[in-house]
Amino acid sequence: MANTERAARESAFWCVVPAAGRGTRFGAGVPKQYLPLAGKPLLLCTLERLAAHPRIAGLMVALAADDAHWPGTVSLHGKPVLTCHGGGERADSVLAGLRALDGRMSHDDFVLVHDAARPCVRAEDVSRLIELGIAAGGALLAAPLRDTLKRADAQGFSIATEPREARWRALTPQLFRHGALVAALEATQAAGVVVTDEAMAMERAGHRPLLVEGAESNIKVTTPADMALAEFLLGREC
Ligand code: C5P
Repeated sequence: MANTERAARESAFWCVVPAAGRGTRFGAGVPKQYLPLAGKPLLLCTLERLAAHPRIAGLMVALAADDAHWPGTVSLHGKPVLTCHGGGERADSVLAGLRALDGRMSHDDFVLVHDAARPCVRAEDVSRLIELGIAAGGALLAAPLRDTLKRADAQGFSIATEPREARWRALTPQLFRHGALVAALEATQAAGVVVTDEAMAMERAGHRPLLVEGAESNIKVTTPADMALAEFLLGREC
């Protein structure tokens, strides 16, 4: 590999964006990633934010096979935007996106994964994740738990208070080596285990991803109230 090509690979990274969810918790007719946010579809807000980051080389968006709303975007901020078909679970969509990047990167190259439903991620958090994550061999943005944590019974009554020390909420982006992440996700799939983020698959494979503290404003839009909050956060630049 030529030095310039190697330098480019080491300084900018592809990002897989799982966007094949149905948004069933949202209760709208349109999948939540296409609901309007600050004048454009939520998914486009997220993609533009990622593409604007100098250390992101391109985007691989995993869409539902029957997605009728994708606007056909092929480039943003001069970066390629590619698409592939996602799967039944978030992890299946991420794995499809990673496989669709085979041939564009080597086994050891780092790749980012970021939820389509997190439009408010801050550029400085992405920068810090990349810097610390490469040094650590893999990392995720996360926020330490600040509230008291309760365990509920089936009727919704609190039956215990869980310790909150050393508990973090996992956010995205998450950064791992392409080959290791594919292997970890394939292993969970083969074991019939549904993982809810990449770090969970990596932990099961024996890795210890670094927790990089990110802003609480990097919310995952899940309910209509989150949409109003995301609009407010985008308005003040998160
Ligand atoms: O459902 P949840 O909010 O956890 O989804 C997180 C992200 O994963 C969303 O961006 C959603 O579109 C995506 N997803 C996916 N494929 C699925 C389920 C969710 O790409 N089968």
